Amino acid sequence: MTRKIIIDTDPGQDDAVAILLALASPELEVLGITAVAGNVPLPLTQKNARIICELSGVIDVPVFAGCDAPLARKLVTAEHVHGKTGLDGIDLPEPEIPLQDQHAVDFIVETLRQHPANTVTLCPLGPLTNIAAAFNKAPDIVEKVQQIVLMGGAYFQVGNITPAAEFNIYVDPEAAEIVFKSKVDLVVMPLDVTHKALTTQPRVDAFRALGTRVGMAVASWTAFFERFDVAKYGSAGAPLHDPTVIAYLIDPKLFSGRHINVEIEVQSDLTRGMTVADWWRVTDRPANALFIGDIHADGFFALLTDRLSRL
Ligand code: BDR
Ligand code: CA
Repeated sequence: MTRKIIIDTDPGQDDAVAILLALASPELEVLGITAVAGNVPLPLTQKNARIICELSGVIDVPVFAGCDAPLARKLVTAEHVHGKTGLDGIDLPEPEIPLQDQHAVDFIVETLRQHPANTVTLCPLGPLTNIAAAFNKAPDIVEKVQQIVLMGGAYFQVGNITPAAEFNIYVDPEAAEIVFKSKVDLVVMPLDVTHKALTTQPRVDAFRALGTRVGMAVASWTAFFERFDVAKYGSAGAPLHDPTVIAYLIDPKLFSGRHINVEIEVQSDLTRGMTVADWWRVTDRPANALFIGDIHADGFFALLTDRLSRL
């Protein structure tokens, strides 16, 4: 049976790879792609989502534009990582796929209301604004969500956009707090795991060796955003964050983690957006997330390369 998902995203090269992986995978049915402001502003993220669908050759997945700013804060973007367009690294044609008229938040609400409970999974790859806005607007949908598998946060890696916080959670901590307190079955891919899935040269070469437009694009994108992380961390490649979410849905055995309590810092300016993860279970706060800590990186890249070869 295929699993129905909605991808909520702010593409972003790594978001792009995640979307391609989902579109290439028969286990998943992508009901829609909802764009949110994050890596770059909303006009670019919604356009990038359509560019990616067009590149994949899957042109019947509807794309929606959602919130253009966090719930309570000014938008922070990450052009320093992803480039001016968010998809720098290769020139791709303007998309012909239309943007849907419906607001992404309304699409999420409507889709969850139309489907039986526990049959739609949400896959947020950016700030959690659209998801939290949907939960605020229609609290009845919360208990209908099958699972949320998201990329965000960190414990051992602590932060990437500030010393204390990961980008997706930092940008909209109030939205993250709503999601982490929602009691939805939650799986979290923090930096701790994505930093174990590095785009080393042989892995990027394998994408390029596919010899397809998709393979070329993925190799060019990963090579582009790598420059920032390699300079920053001195590592042999960059973490490939967002595709871990989709890979988890396809093959959860590639991952391991702990059911723990995770709280979001929303008060302090210094530690805004910190994911206070009780990895060592030193409090009696109840677990609210499966916090992933480890990945079989070679298996992950093998899955990715194999699936991308199908596009
Ligand atoms: C996350 O932030 C974005 O820059 C990436 O697309 C990923 O979702 C990593 O912190
Ligand atoms: Ca992202």
